[in-house]
Amino acid sequence: MSGIERIKEKSREQGTDAVYETIINMRKEFHEKQKSGKIVVRAEDREWELSRQGFVRWYLVPIRYKDNVLQDWYVFMLNIKKHSGRHRHQGGLCIFIVEGKGGTEVDGEFIEWEAGDLVLLPVKPGGIEHKHFNSDPNKACRWIAFMYFPLWDHVASEFTQLELSQEFVGEFGSRDDFIMDKVKNKSGSKYFEELYKDLKEPITEIDKGKQSFKSRREKLMSINFYGETMKLRDRQRLQMKNAIWLVKGKDLPWEHNPHGVMRWYLHEAMDDTAVRTLNFYIQEIPKNSRSGKLRYQGNAVIYIIQGKGYTVMDGVKYEWKADDVIQLPLRRDGVIFQHFNSGDIPVRFVFCEPNLLHATMVDRGSGFDQIEISPDFDKDYIPGD
Ligand SMILES: [Fe+2]
Repeated sequence: MSGIERIKEKSREQGTDAVYETIINMRKEFHEKQKSGKIVVRAEDREWELSRQGFVRWYLVPIRYKDNVLQDWYVFMLNIKKHSGRHRHQGGLCIFIVEGKGGTEVDGEFIEWEAGDLVLLPVKPGGIEHKHFNSDPNKACRWIAFMYFPLWDHVASEFTQLELSQEFVGEFGSRDDFIMDKVKNKSGSKYFEELYKDLKEPITEIDKGKQSFKSRREKLMSINFYGETMKLRDRQRLQMKNAIWLVKGKDLPWEHNPHGVMRWYLHEAMDDTAVRTLNFYIQEIPKNSRSGKLRYQGNAVIYIIQGKGYTVMDGVKYEWKADDVIQLPLRRDGVIFQHFNSGDIPVRFVFCEPNLLHATMVDRGSGFDQIEISPDFDKDYIPGD
């Protein structure tokens, strides 16, 4: 029997369905996990761990916490006493300053920041070398980082330690080989019918400014797509030259929208931020109030900055308080969720999701629909800094 015949014989024995069945089972397991996985990670359930980079509290780390509903996120907090270690990896992530003042030395530049700011570490040829400092070691200084891991693979990120954190050296010495194990209509659909009434069919990019073509083939022939990639690269290089690496919270306006009152740090429609892989906002819910109710596919991480309350998601109530992390799971028909403030002070939280709105559409596989409007939409409530 020839080599190729033996392969055919073996395939017949195993059945080509083996792979197919495995895929079916894998997707089944994925969806089971999205129903049963842990949603809220409580700060008190996570110890501070001393690493070569400093003291870290790991909220979401797939390699350790397999019970979390989302398994593609790295979300962790760094407690900077004096300075962190220095390391190099790819960007595409953002760091929200929770408490204190300090700075980040990154590729020879120093970015000063304070609570409420968002530090952006962009994707850049060669990666990003950086180290974080607390400007007043007598005061607490903490930040929380959000990283969507599949995007890190897509840019082939390394992870290389270049210098040890001060606390690590104090505890273990400087062994560099050390490895440690406004709308009153409450009907969302009616609201959007109105909104869509005057919308025109979008003109696709390749139709812009062109004469009409006899066929799609003729239209495609008028464009050099490889050239378009180079043009896009050049446009992006120019954008990156002037892009901002720090978003100052105090400089941002508050926006009133059907989902509530928010301040946008990173958004698909912003083209001047160094990070474009994530969308990121802060939302504030006043005392005795609530967010809108939204149908949303999922895959978002929320960190509670202050206050306490609960989220009703697909009919289940999840309570939370300051310093907790909440995950919005990925369910086939999406999740329907709404946040409520049950405490005595305004609730404030950050929300982070991958920015794949063009790649997978805003609707994704579930639809993106405002089911109920937040009562704060048509109020003059303006949160402080
Ligand atoms: Fe880092």
